Amino acid sequence: MARSVRGIEDLLAAEIRRRGLGEVVATGHREVRFAVSEKAAAGVTALVTADDVFVLAAEVDGIGRGRIELARLGRAVAAADLDTAMAVRAQCGGPPAGSVDVSASFLGRRTFTRYDVEDAVGAVVAGRLGLLYHPRRAGARPPSGGLTWRVTIVGDRASVAVRVSARPLHRRPWKTATVPGTLHPPLAAAMVALAGIEPGERVLDPCCGAGTLAIEAAHAGALAIGTDHDPAALAAAARNGRGTSVRWARADGGALPFATGSVQRVLLNPPWGRLVEASGLLARRPGLLAKEVRRVLDPAGTVVLLVPEDRGAPAGFRVERGVPVALAGVRLVVLVLR
Ligand SMILES: C[S@@+](CC[C@H](N)C(=O)[O-])C[C@H]1O[C@@H](n2cnc3c(N)ncnc32)[C@H](O)[C@@H]1O
Repeated sequence: MARSVRGIEDLLAAEIRRRGLGEVVATGHREVRFAVSEKAAAGVTALVTADDVFVLAAEVDGIGRGRIELARLGRAVAAADLDTAMAVRAQCGGPPAGSVDVSASFLGRRTFTRYDVEDAVGAVVAGRLGLLYHPRRAGARPPSGGLTWRVTIVGDRASVAVRVSARPLHRRPWKTATVPGTLHPPLAAAMVALAGIEPGERVLDPCCGAGTLAIEAAHAGALAIGTDHDPAALAAAARNGRGTSVRWARADGGALPFATGSVQRVLLNPPWGRLVEASGLLARRPGLLAKEVRRVLDPAGTVVLLVPEDRGAPAGFRVERGVPVALAGVRLVVLVLR
């Protein structure tokens, strides 16, 4: 079961198919379920558009609103085939762990809390696996390297699953430096997928911040270039991009130092004036950015732009596709422009 940002589930399902990881069986709200193929299992942690990937261990129907359901959930987990779930996790490359923690969430009103669910499941799982259970109640952070279980109750169905990797997939090991408004890497990877980049193409992010889009593009085979007006952002990008082929340069998005038609794809997460203000030429003339992007873009090229949902496409571009997404409760849209 792979989880994603709301709105990119179909792109995640397409990535699962493209990587030959197995057969997609269902695509729903923020998740894609697939039957992992034994041969390809080790590839699941390479998914770039997934926030995380889990092995489903149990599903329990008929979960109501009362506290009595906690005992039912505990009994269902006590009867679940945890050995198979743990064996599939190991096939997927999941490392051994020394403790158990649980993260639960549900929609709708219940007379129990998420912590009650976590404790009901955690105690049983830890007992069966012979590991220590670390509750999250009272804000305690579980130790790193533990086995993280996830319980989601949607309607009257509870799903109990175990995370494959020791840390969430969206937490990229290379992303050690950050800037305000920095992009969630799986969403950046989804934008890269929407750009349809061919290996070796020149891809520009003219407002690169900490470099997320350019680095994800380089991992997809692009000759990526990241520019930004803020030297601190460029320092963060250069640090994150160590070991990649991305080229970084300081430039104002209102006067890009590139020849007309010289870039095949532009990936763009511009300052929206919420977390990040436009600076330089764009502070007074924000429209210059779209003009400059149009100028440097190859006439057959593509722009993939992330904007709040209430903003349309900039003048001079035709919308080929719009993908609404929700990130931390904020409604955005990814526009594919020509
Ligand atoms: C939303 S942030 C981009 C975040 C980036 N995608 C990341 O993952 O970190 C917008 C960026 O636009 C940059 N910016 C603001 N004015 C600019 C200008 N005139 N030219 C180029 N970049 C500018 C800011 O410095 C900031 O890094």
